[in-house]
Amino acid sequence: MTKPIYILNGPNLNLLGQREPEIYGYQTLSDIENDCRAAAKSAGYSLEFRQSNIEGEIVDHIQEAGNKGIGLMINPAAYTHTSVAIHDALKGIKVPSIEVHLSQPAKRESFRRRSFVSEAVTGTISGFGANSYNLGLQALLNLLKT
Ligand code: DQA
Repeated sequence: MTKPIYILNGPNLNLLGQREPEIYGYQTLSDIENDCRAAAKSAGYSLEFRQSNIEGEIVDHIQEAGNKGIGLMINPAAYTHTSVAIHDALKGIKVPSIEVHLSQPAKRESFRRRSFVSEAVTGTISGFGANSYNLGLQALLNLLKT
């Protein structure tokens, strides 16, 4: 059995669709999950799709992805800009990892310009709304081919 791809989502992303839609769009996290599930399936992979508002739980999920998964995509949301624990967890796994954001944090408030996550992942995709997830997943699938 092929190992699953993990897609992890951080705090407040459970509110997508109603949360600041002018920034994050109207698609819900379930819409995004359905699209990712279909794309993963057509590439022959199963998907573990998680969301948590709790930093330590996200660390647990990253460790699980490192042990049981084939690759990881993560939108750490606000923890992007604060979490050394998530940085360290990503550094600690050997599978490829993609950081993804709906918005373009570099264009927003100055506190969003620092990402503790970018330094620990294979690559980052941001600024394309829900399509960032599709693009990120394609990037991860390409990495898994090589
Ligand atoms: C976000 C960007 C973060 O700055 C913000 O805290 C989020 C969402 C994005 O997907 O654009 O919650 O990660």
